[in-house]
Amino acid sequence: MKILVTGGAGFIGSAVCRHLVGDLAMAVVNVDKLTYAANLDSLKPIAGHPLYSFYKQDICDREAILGILQSEKPDAIMHLAAESHVDRSIDGPAIFIETNVMGTYAMLEAARTYWIELEGTARNSFRFHHVSTDEVFGDLPFDDSLFLETTPYAPSSPYSASKASSDHLVRAWNHTFGLPVVLSNCSNNYGPYQFPEKLIPLVTLNALEGRPLPVYGKGDNVRDWLHVEDHAKALVTIATRGRIGESYNVGGRCERTNLAVVEAICDHLDKQVPREDGTQRRSLITFVTDRPGHDRRYAIDCSKIEAELGWTPSRTFEEGLADTISWYLANDEWWRPIRAKNYSGQRLGTGSKKP
Ligand code: NAD
Ligand code: DAU
Repeated sequence: MKILVTGGAGFIGSAVCRHLVGDLAMAVVNVDKLTYAANLDSLKPIAGHPLYSFYKQDICDREAILGILQSEKPDAIMHLAAESHVDRSIDGPAIFIETNVMGTYAMLEAARTYWIELEGTARNSFRFHHVSTDEVFGDLPFDDSLFLETTPYAPSSPYSASKASSDHLVRAWNHTFGLPVVLSNCSNNYGPYQFPEKLIPLVTLNALEGRPLPVYGKGDNVRDWLHVEDHAKALVTIATRGRIGESYNVGGRCERTNLAVVEAICDHLDKQVPREDGTQRRSLITFVTDRPGHDRRYAIDCSKIEAELGWTPSRTFEEGLADTISWYLANDEWWRPIRAKNYSGQRLGTGSKKP
């Protein structure tokens, strides 16, 4: 099988490419514009592999995408390319609408033209897998409620609204044009190669360097954490075996408050690399002004994918977090250039900058 992956130089996309080529020996065509969030170093383990190829390409260019589809002839598309950081969407929503809405529209139109021209088995087995987020469902109260595939959409941020819009487009292309699509909505990912603007890598690296650890509000917001390699396995399962027109919720059954996550990172680092002055890294925790429109709680019911497709998360948060911290400690050549280029000390998400 050959799969065209969009956004394969990003955090989750690179994990998908490494899994497809490295573990499953499947052919991958990676299409990525290489925005600030991309890093070709994340693909080093497979970069020279004969099953892997790369196109530096903007998904918004429908004709260029169609050309790649027609020359590479993939059996499926896994569409991950997106602007993904909520705080950036508050500071500058325009690129989120452009990439996540218009980009998905361009991908759907290119895929439709390509798919119509396919024949026989190639046409029957083709899939367009749209990779989305649990944030489309909005905000859960602090109780035991969970997001189901049938939960009504209620996005809160420009990011989640743009992802919700793209999900609606994908379903419409299935309903109206018959394009064989499948969707997935996943909770917060963590793991190696995550851009250090997201909570876990940001706090890990700040804590290592003795910088303040910014916790929004009271730190009582809850997220459901899933290791990126478990997500990559779920995505390939959905792309290859998911039912046409269906969506699958993917999560870690692993709810934690942000404060608990930050404290766990501090405690891990204190054990692995104690500070010279012997002080605890929890002392670096700094409560800062909350993110505007900050959703309180996300939690996924992933029983549909477990029952239908047999996928289940394989590691506990404690195991996954320990591995992730060890990875950042051992791979400073990956993150030091990013921190040197991007770390301004200025907090994102205040909405104060003009788009
Ligand atoms: P990321 O920001 O790390 O990577 C996004 C990638 O998309 C980058 O390589 C970037 O260069 C590429 N890209 C952006 N605009 C592009 C364009 N116009 N054309 C081509 N490529 C472009 O994102 P991520 O965290 O890996 O998320 C991947 C997908 O998974 C996104 O669709 C996101 O909404 C979804 N998702 C993320 C999470 C999470 O916790 N990170 C959870 C659920 C779903
Ligand atoms: O739920 C899935 C989503 O998870 C994905 O769709 C997004 O692409 C991904 O970025 C992530 O969104 P979050 O906003 O939940 O992730 P982030 O790492 O930015 O923040 C996690 C939580 O931590 C959130 O409640 C905000 C808080 N936070 C974040 C940062 C960066 C802090 O308290 N301090 C911080 O410095």
